Amino acid sequence: MPNIVLVGAQWGDEGKGKIIDVLAEESDVVVRFQGGNNAGHTVKVGDDKYVLHLIPSGILHPGKHCVIGNGVVIDPVALVSELDELKQKGVDPDGRFHISDRAHVVFPYHGLLDLTRESNLHKGKKLGTTKRGIGPSYSDKAARVGLRMGDLIDPQFDELLMPRITEANKVLQAMGADPVDAGQLLAAYRTAAQELAPFVSDTISFLGEACRTKKSILFEGAQGTMLDIDFGTYPYVTSSNGTAGGACTGSGVPPHRIDQVLGVIKAYTTRVGEGPFPTELTDEVGQTLAKVGNEFGATTGRPRRCGWFDAVVARYAAMVNGIDFWAMTKLDVMDSLQTIKICVAYECDGKRYNTVPANIRVYERCRPVYEEMPGWQCPTTAVTTLKDLPPKARAYVDRLCEITGVKLGILSVGPKRSSTMRVAV
Ligand code: GDP
Ligand code: IMO
Ligand code: MG
Repeated sequence: MPNIVLVGAQWGDEGKGKIIDVLAEESDVVVRFQGGNNAGHTVKVGDDKYVLHLIPSGILHPGKHCVIGNGVVIDPVALVSELDELKQKGVDPDGRFHISDRAHVVFPYHGLLDLTRESNLHKGKKLGTTKRGIGPSYSDKAARVGLRMGDLIDPQFDELLMPRITEANKVLQAMGADPVDAGQLLAAYRTAAQELAPFVSDTISFLGEACRTKKSILFEGAQGTMLDIDFGTYPYVTSSNGTAGGACTGSGVPPHRIDQVLGVIKAYTTRVGEGPFPTELTDEVGQTLAKVGNEFGATTGRPRRCGWFDAVVARYAAMVNGIDFWAMTKLDVMDSLQTIKICVAYECDGKRYNTVPANIRVYERCRPVYEEMPGWQCPTTAVTTLKDLPPKARAYVDRLCEITGVKLGILSVGPKRSSTMRVAV
């Protein structure tokens, strides 16, 4: 299989975990390149359900190598419990799970800073973060004061960490929050370090060798294009680059080794957390999508906001990621709808927008311009080939591809591996 970068094309939760799981079968290595345990990637294998937060979804395929790249931020205590859960379910990571020694560490004070900053923000200004300390950890990385996984397993870890705790506690107290207990923190992180040390290594050389020996690499993006710190709806974004460029900076694999970019996109749109969402539906249709699609956050359990497919977002995602094919998911969730709308442009103050405006105050006021199509009103989840789709469902999928200018690579009509049509990927 070619080296594929898989990215979310909307606001996250597009079904990336499921598609990675399907493609991992044919890959040698699966790499996470950004984000942290703010991600929640659900994979259904038979009747078993796995939710992966930090570990690449490829881990469920025995023998496949899985890498947490340098661009990821890692909460080591959370990672140990994720590993333990997998081991209890019979997944063996030994010899095939690799954690970059350059990946930054998330500490409890990052989580507390995240939480305190959010609760100090006025209603309407909150970001709705996952409160996993992602923003503060990436802030430390950019400020060049972060600690990395290589530091966590270094004998001098305590000396490296103490000044960080002292500074973080001053900030926390100034913000009206309780300081962290240095003793407790050190004890918990020393234990986690012992558990993780066997997996920490120079993943850049490992991936370099994988490229040299023509192994096939699958890059697992987290979050989505509209949550990307540069291309998303700033400031209602996460703190990393979940778009295709992040695959290189977050793994050390050079751009010319990427063969293909696959955009995962739902047949409708969802968003969890705060921020503008032009096609959001607060009516019965929105409730139907949420209920049938089981739209609850895999990490926080929060209900996801649901809305119509937004072709402005999809075209923009196709452009900034260079998406070759769509992996379109959750078509089955729309089975009962009588009429379906597609947002083809926005309008704001009498002006038409065909792309996503940078100014968040303009974006907040953008109203969708819709075209309508008839629903197919029959079940699709048992369909296994495109030609057996109800004609109106096929017409809807074809229209989405046409107005976004991207070909269909994969179509998913259910959470299971078997509910997946491989069209061109
Ligand atoms: P990710 O973060 O992009 O990996 O997506 P999540 O796992 O957070 O959310 C996607 C949800 O949709 C999961 O519960 C999947 O099991 C489920 N899912 C994926 N593809 C399909 C599909 O085609 N149809 C249905 N009904 N569910 C799907
Ligand atoms: P996956 O990989 C959906 C959202 C949060 C919040 C914003 C910032 O499962 O698609 P953060 O904790 O990252 O600082 O929160 O980003 N968010 C996600 N939404 N799916 C995700 O990951 C997300 N990761 C972060 O809800 O709005
Ligand atoms: Mg998710």
